[in-house]
Amino acid sequence: MNVLALIGSPRKGSNTDILLDRILRGCRERMYTSEKLYLYDFEISPCIDCRRCKTKNYECAIKDGMTEIYPKMEQADVLLFGTPVYWYGPTGKMKLLIDRMRPFIASKKLRGKKGVLVVPCQEGPDACGALVEMFRKSFDYLGMEFVGKVLATAYERAEVAKNQEDLRKAYELGISL
Ligand SMILES: Cc1cc2nc3c(=O)[nH]c(=O)nc-3n(C[C@H](O)[C@H](O)[C@H](O)COP(=O)(O)O)c2cc1C
Repeated sequence: MNVLALIGSPRKGSNTDILLDRILRGCRERMYTSEKLYLYDFEISPCIDCRRCKTKNYECAIKDGMTEIYPKMEQADVLLFGTPVYWYGPTGKMKLLIDRMRPFIASKKLRGKKGVLVVPCQEGPDACGALVEMFRKSFDYLGMEFVGKVLATAYERAEVAKNQEDLRKAYELGISL
């Protein structure tokens, strides 16, 4: 199994990062290979709705950081999407990535892959409803399987590291994949 973690927090060593690391620790126990990408390290331009990805080998017309990310997503069996809640939605960078996933509608290249959502936020799980629904519907549309989520309460940098329960949940989710 090949696991790809996509980190949508601008802060390295952030709550999102820590939770994803715990999931990956569980995955490593299962001898899965894994890779982490910090989306803020990549230039990701907005989708311009040119619809070129419906033709031309389903390729995106925009050549930027996504050119490196697309093949990694295609090669993964499990995709971990990690983003803090920003105004009850994902961070801007994570939304840019999701919008650019449009080629996968026509190519169907994400079909059958497992999707996991990881979300820390100040207000806790009750504030994550819209975000979870957005991912659930998007995974569905792409033919992916929503196999798990970790919703954690945390505000300060690395605060989630003090919450053994959330860390355990993340680790066990990694094992269960
Ligand atoms: C621009 C911005 C908007 C935010 N909006 C919310 C929000 O609507 N609800 C909430 O509970 N927390 C909100 N937060 C807090 C973050 O979700 C929280 O600090 C989170 O732990 C950050 O994750 P990170 O450490 O992985 O970056 C917001 C933070 C920022 C910077």
